[in-house]
Amino acid sequence: MKTVAVLVGSLRAGSLNRKFAESLAKLAEGKLAFKFVEIGDLPLYNEDLWENPPTSVLRLKNDIETADGVLFVTPEYNRTYAPAIDNAIHWGTRPWGKNSWAGKPAAIAGTSPGAIGAAVGQSQLKQVLVVVGMALMGQPEVYFAYKDELFDDEGHVVNEQTAAFLQGFVDSFAAWIDRVG
Ligand code: FNR
Repeated sequence: MKTVAVLVGSLRAGSLNRKFAESLAKLAEGKLAFKFVEIGDLPLYNEDLWENPPTSVLRLKNDIETADGVLFVTPEYNRTYAPAIDNAIHWGTRPWGKNSWAGKPAAIAGTSPGAIGAAVGQSQLKQVLVVVGMALMGQPEVYFAYKDELFDDEGHVVNEQTAAFLQGFVDSFAAWIDRVG
């Protein structure tokens, strides 16, 4: 089965985006194996650290390079995407000539309690993923206004329409990985 490295931009324990990503992982079962990548222990990007690279950085690069695709799940902070994702992206592009993201199939999702579901943050992230050379899936887009009642206690999506919409996203990403990976 194809593997997907999942980067969740929120680091807090009660993150809605992490819950949302875990729900997507459930919908992907049998089609894609989601592997959640730790990005909270990466130091802020500092070129000097390459002299003796932190284990967390080497682990990140390995997690990306060994995955068939990458899913970014970001909250929206002040109309942009999460700084933890930004930091991970920069580490992954270096050292020069060893860009871990290059050519990897990618998709973006995100949620917010707000009505437009992290749309602006996701839009900003799209631009950067193209710059770092990822093969970004443009459609379908998932701008998800988070509501607790859409999920059960185990994180399964209980609303039929919502489940069908999210299943479509996951299936499209699986097809995208097969096509461009
Ligand atoms: C937010 N939030 C927010 N929401 C939104 O829809 N648009 C925005 O621009 C912002 N800006 C923003 C800035 C900062 C610094 C914080 C902490 C929060 C609210 C945000 O969507 C909400 O806290 C989510 O629950 C954050 O995602 P997690 O941590 O639940 O995954």
